[in-house]
This record gives sequence, structure tokens and C-alpha cells, in this order.
Amino acid sequence: MSYETLLYEIRARIAYVTVNRPQKLNALNQRCIQELTDCFDRIGKAREAGAVILTGAGEKAFVAGADINELAALTPTEARETALQGQALMDRIEHLGKPVAAAVNGFALGGGCELAMACTLRIASDNARFGQPEVRLGIIPGYAGTQRLPRLVGKGRALEMILGGEPISAQEAWRIGLANQVVSLTELIPAVEKAIQKILANGPVAVRYALEAVHRGVEMTEADGEQLEASLFGLCCATSDMKEGTRAFLEKRPAQFKGE
Ligand code: COA
Repeated sequence: MSYETLLYEIRARIAYVTVNRPQKLNALNQRCIQELTDCFDRIGKAREAGAVILTGAGEKAFVAGADINELAALTPTEARETALQGQALMDRIEHLGKPVAAAVNGFALGGGCELAMACTLRIASDNARFGQPEVRLGIIPGYAGTQRLPRLVGKGRALEMILGGEPISAQEAWRIGLANQVVSLTELIPAVEKAIQKILANGPVAVRYALEAVHRGVEMTEADGEQLEASLFGLCCATSDMKEGTRAFLEKRPAQFKGE
């Protein structure tokens, strides 16, 4: 499968997705949103892919936002559609059922920050910059940045970033909980692979249900979230992975999960 704006391959159970418009700092044009949506649909169905690493081509940017050339020409109705399509992509990534790690290798601005926030983990190189600079263009975030940023870092910090528009450093992003880890650019992909392999060693059904319990649970009342957790806990106990995981612990050996 080849895309115009993406690089995509699966190696050793990891799907590698690279936004590939380095001359435009990997800005998300319509084509790119469509291709990412198609690519994540494929990954969702691909049994051979247990996790995803998402990054940007080159050494300067993860994704420097939605494509401002396209944005500038949108009518209000087109802009609404564009926001809905972008939001649907971010939801698709968040609810993929497989961990998605963003390897943030430079600017993650606007739609780039929103794309990174839809991922399960954000590991940043020390040259990365995170920000929601839309107000500088006279618009607001449109790919769910106003929703995910406060959930990740709290309302106060989110408002500071969204209203000020000033990008923050990788170190600051780590300090406020937006980045999970900061490493040098050369260590970035190995560090992300290590984090993903740690998750891949665990029971795939349990990982899927844990993702669901957290992502759906935060949108519920605590009592409803606990009900959801209990139901998914019960389902886990019906899997052969659960039997293998508990048996392997008692037999003092690594578990061999089948995802069943
Ligand atoms: N949309 C479209 N093109 C973009 C872009 C975006 N979001 N971000 C960068 N580019 C393009 C630039 O126009 C330039 O193209 P050109 O060479 O054809 O002129 C190219 O990418 C390189 O960017 P440039 O601005 O020259 O790099 P820089 O190192 O001087 O600055 C940034 C880097 C990220 C600070 C700057 O590009 C920027 O502010 N980008 C917009 C960020 C933004 O507002 N994102 C939210 C959009 S809603």
C-alpha cells in the first residue's frame, strides 16, 4: 500500500506511520487527513500489527499543524467539515484498540499537537515544541485540542497554551504531563520502540480493554466508569491470555500471549 503523503510499513508487530511532507514541515492537508484515516482503518484490522509508532519525516517537525494554505481558502461550511473530519481521525486513533506512540521529533503545533494528543504516548526529542497557536491566525483549535489538552494537563495550563498561542519546549511538555519522556533526537525511535515493546509483551486483549476503560471511563461519572471497568475485568477473565498470564506467573516463566 503506498500513499502520497505518508510512509507506512509493518515490522515486528509495529506499524510505522510517517507523515511525509517535510518541505511543508509535515503540515496536514486534506489528502493527508484522508490517508491517515485510511491507514489507521487498515491498522485497526491488521492482525499482524499490535501497536503503532507515528512520526514526521525529517528532523525539524512532527507535524506543524493543519495546512494553512488550505485553511485560508475554506468557506465556513467547508471549515466545519474539515474540523469534523480531523476530529474523526483523532477519535479513530484514540479508539484504535492498539497503543499508538507519537515520536515527536520537532514542531507539534496546532493539528500536530492535536494528533500527538490523540496518541496513547508522546515521546519527544529535546528539540520538540508543542503548541496550539491557532489564535494567532484568528481561529481556535479544530481537531479537538480544546478538549484533549485540558484533559491531559488541566484547564489552567491548557487555557494558557490555547489563549497565548506560545509553543512550549519538550522539557516543559514533560513537566506538565504532555510528553511522557524526552530523549535526544538520535535516541527517539529506539526509545519509542522500547516503550511500545514493553506494552506488546503484555496480553493484547488486556491492553485493548485497559485503553477502553481509560478512554471511555474518563468521559463517564466515576460510578459508571467503575461499572465499565468491572465488566471489562470480567471479560478479561474469560480469555486464554488470562489463564496463560496467571499460570506463567505461578510457573515463574514469561507468558506467551495469543491475544485470545
Ligand atoms: N501549513 C502550511 N505550510 C506550513 C505550515 C503549515 N501549518 N507550517 C510550515 N509550513 C511551510 C512554510 O510555509 C514553509 O513553506 P515554503 O518553504 O514553501 O515557504 C515551510 O513549511 C517551512 O516553514 P518555515 O516557516 O520556513 O520554517 P521556520 O523554521 O522558519 O518556522 C514554524 C517553523 C513551525 C515556527 C513556522 O513554520 C510556523 O509557524 N508554522 C505554522 C504553525 C501553525 O500556526 N500551526 C497551526 C496551524 S492551524
